[in-house]
Amino acid sequence: MNEKEIVDIEEKIMANTFSKRDRVITRGKGTIVWDINGNEYIDCTGSYGVCIVGHCHPRVVEAVQRQVETLIACHASFYNDARSEMLEKLIGIAPKGLGKVFLSNSGAESVECAIKLARRYSGKHEIVAMMGAFHGKTMGALSATWKQKYRGPFMPLVPGFKHVPPNNLEKVREAITDKTAAVLVEPVRGEGGVLLPSDDFLPGLREICDEKDVLLMFDEVQTGFGRTGKVFACEHWNVVPDVLCLAKSVAGGLPMGATFAREEVMAAFQRGEHSSTFSGNPLVCAAASAAIDVLVEEKLPERAASLGNYFKGKLEGLAEKYRIVREVRGLGLMLGMELRFDVYNILLECMERGVLVLDAGRNVVRFLPPLVIEKEQIDKVVEVLDVVMEKENR
Ligand SMILES: Cc1ncc(COP(=O)(O)O)c(C=O)c1O
Repeated sequence: MNEKEIVDIEEKIMANTFSKRDRVITRGKGTIVWDINGNEYIDCTGSYGVCIVGHCHPRVVEAVQRQVETLIACHASFYNDARSEMLEKLIGIAPKGLGKVFLSNSGAESVECAIKLARRYSGKHEIVAMMGAFHGKTMGALSATWKQKYRGPFMPLVPGFKHVPPNNLEKVREAITDKTAAVLVEPVRGEGGVLLPSDDFLPGLREICDEKDVLLMFDEVQTGFGRTGKVFACEHWNVVPDVLCLAKSVAGGLPMGATFAREEVMAAFQRGEHSSTFSGNPLVCAAASAAIDVLVEEKLPERAASLGNYFKGKLEGLAEKYRIVREVRGLGLMLGMELRFDVYNILLECMERGVLVLDAGRNVVRFLPPLVIEKEQIDKVVEVLDVVMEKENR
């Protein structure tokens, strides 16, 4: 199929829910992807934060190849070697105390599981979430998501969700009632604009949740798996939640979600109350096993911390040079550059010059590169941004 045929078919047949970029991507390796015409791009989207270990990491490829010839499907009502091996590794990297996990297929599903678990464990139905939060677009996750653009057309949503301003412990305290099951929060808000919490916010939430006897649930779908310079972002503040959601990157590019919980919390689910046909699929588990090995052996969180500092420093250099930049922020290799205007043009101009970047809201350029990115590639990204911003700054 040629480029036009590929585009035409997607346009004609696929639900029209994605803002498409004008490129057909056909190949990827590490931090680089190629389009159908052989043009090369440094991928600072990481496929929306999925490609922590890089595109087609050889260990993931080898694990998938091995497993695909052995067993692809095995429902979780049977035991399986690939799943069992992966589960031990997964719990090995989880924050201490989170000893149980439910496996699913996406970020939204991992959040759905957390919401149901909170209700089941507490016998209550209210959840306190944050203004500006993003937790996914299925009905439960959407009810926790803040943006009216996503929520508005689908009312009425799941009842019982209250949104409070982030970094305001008093408002959280006020929002908790005798019907509250949990407080749900992204340690660093991703889609909302790469926004860090104030230093006292997560520890304060832990205290309030303990005091009020409600569950503290962290959505680490975007921040987890080394992205921010620790395996989980909550480690930066030494706070362990009762429930933690992970997805995006955990299976090296294949779809997997994971909802971790303390043992007695997860014990609230009775048999049959929550399940998914593909939960713990062996092929995906084999990929996740390899991705966890890569994360640990290649010390990717440490790499994210040091390269993130380097990258952030370079972006701050651009901020000094161009008054169109309002702020540079982020943690590890989860970085955002807030501009004084809509960033869409910047995204397109960067793409024309071989660099793929994301937005986060209207005016933030977001960087979620694979953690295997090289210093020279960061330099190239900054060079391209420099050229593009010079043009836009006029
Ligand atoms: C923090 C967070 N939670 C949940 C989700 C939803 O994940 P998915 O798109 O895999 O359903 C996302 C996706 O970007 C996210 O960033």
